[in-house]
Amino acid sequence: MTVVKVKTTPFAGQKPGTSGLRKKVTEFKQAGYLENFVQSVFNVLDDCKGKVLVIGGDGRYYNREAIQIIVRMAAANGFGRLIVGQGGILSTPAASCVIRKHQADGGIILSASHNPGGPDEDFGIKFNGANGGPATESVTEAIYQGTRTIDHYLTLESPAIDLDRIGTTQIEGARVEVIDSVADYADLMETLFDFEKIRALVSNKRFHMCFDAMHAVTGPYALEILEKRLGVEPGSVIHAVPLEDFGGGHPDPNLVHAKELVAKMNGDAPLAFGAASDGDGDRNMVLGSGFYINPCDSLAVLAANATLVPGYKDGLQGVARSMPTSRAVDRVAARLDIPCFETPTGWKFFGNLMDAGKITLCGEESFGTGSDHVREKDGLWAVLFWLNIIAVLGKPARSIVREHWQEYGRDYFTRHDYENVDSAQAGSVIDTLKASLADLPGKTFAGFEVEAADDFSYVDPVDGSESKAQGVRLFFTNGSRVVIRLSGTGTSGATVRIYCDRFENDPGLLGSDTQRALSGLIDAIEEITKLRQITGRQRPDVIT
Ligand code: G1P
Ligand code: ZN
Repeated sequence: MTVVKVKTTPFAGQKPGTSGLRKKVTEFKQAGYLENFVQSVFNVLDDCKGKVLVIGGDGRYYNREAIQIIVRMAAANGFGRLIVGQGGILSTPAASCVIRKHQADGGIILSASHNPGGPDEDFGIKFNGANGGPATESVTEAIYQGTRTIDHYLTLESPAIDLDRIGTTQIEGARVEVIDSVADYADLMETLFDFEKIRALVSNKRFHMCFDAMHAVTGPYALEILEKRLGVEPGSVIHAVPLEDFGGGHPDPNLVHAKELVAKMNGDAPLAFGAASDGDGDRNMVLGSGFYINPCDSLAVLAANATLVPGYKDGLQGVARSMPTSRAVDRVAARLDIPCFETPTGWKFFGNLMDAGKITLCGEESFGTGSDHVREKDGLWAVLFWLNIIAVLGKPARSIVREHWQEYGRDYFTRHDYENVDSAQAGSVIDTLKASLADLPGKTFAGFEVEAADDFSYVDPVDGSESKAQGVRLFFTNGSRVVIRLSGTGTSGATVRIYCDRFENDPGLLGSDTQRALSGLIDAIEEITKLRQITGRQRPDVIT
């Protein structure tokens, strides 16, 4: 096979966001678009000769075609071994696991996470390094700079590989291995959790559960681990077959999009435990009987109970949370006397802390929780962690969370998203706010007095790199906080995210409705930003 050098010209805007490059499928399908980005990744790796690359994706529309393109390009660039998930499937955490287990030099994951899929919907690509985690800021920037000057890419002519058959093919110098997408990951889960205890829990006739795979990538993983290895009642995993368009749904595990699951958790005969994951399997939503568990609280509860789980029985090195995430886990860290790090939004910042042995658990308010078993957030892992804790404590999820609040106090938390806002309007709201930061302290809005205000910047304690302008933070004198930032994962217009939290430790006030508990703060931020007034929006599009 002859390697072909194809001339190309740069495409504008191939700058990876919070989690890789995400664009509409139509944009990705332009001749050379995917190729330019992939070649820019390979160029940053420098000499690809003999290197090992993992390739897989969440099964969305264009996944299979993209994999064939990448396999040819990788072979042409001199990779020695390509490890590809069967059917092109690898969940994000499974890809991270496979990279680490097979000591690959990196991996390419094709996913736009929880964004819808289909010919007119979203596609995405991200590069993970040898530690199994998202490329760091400096690597991402180097890839982007490469896309701005690229003039050729390498490929070769070879028949498409059979993605559905486990086995090995040789293309040029590259050994292409199609592997079982689930086995390595499922084996890793068995080393972390007490499967015997969980088996006993789920065999109890009164314990019924449901896992909603949302027609996305976790279906095969959940069937293997929950139903096959743990013996959860057949049929408990719903929407288990990955579909290219996620069945027309939105593979985002929240109360709005996981409707069927939510219905099963409420009503006359609610199930004991429910969970859902997103398009690429890194997010999780966990629910108790008639009870929603906020991801910020989930992280705090997992940290507080970690030593009950075999993989964490010796305790935690430290914990980390993204800046907008509530400070519930900080209180647990203080009690455990372990460090707690506050990082910008996105998973890429946790990897350095894990590699340096500074943290064991971490999480984000956006339904992301994880640990140093891989370098990505991990949806099913969080579900198994919860099941393990429930099995050991012998209590329902709801009681575990309520008792946690009694002990630590409760951080009421909500996020309001305004989607597809006119980019200029959104930019001006944020710019005006930033310009007023110095004047805000001492002023009162809707009864809340601003104590401090800043634009979050982060210095990585491991490599010293600085990430500026990561979101505006407003601290109020009563301990409440509001964060406002623009999304880095949206593909049309701008998405404005407003995060509100308020600490409460009066035992009589721990069970209020979240939106009611935070309504004053929500009024205050509107008074400060005039967001609704400027954009003409009456209310947020999504509330979590
Ligand atoms: C969103 C979430 C963020 C998460 C990212 C990738 O990014 O807010 O926590 O890491 O998706 O799953 P955003 O759109 O806010 O930039
Ligand atoms: Zn995801």
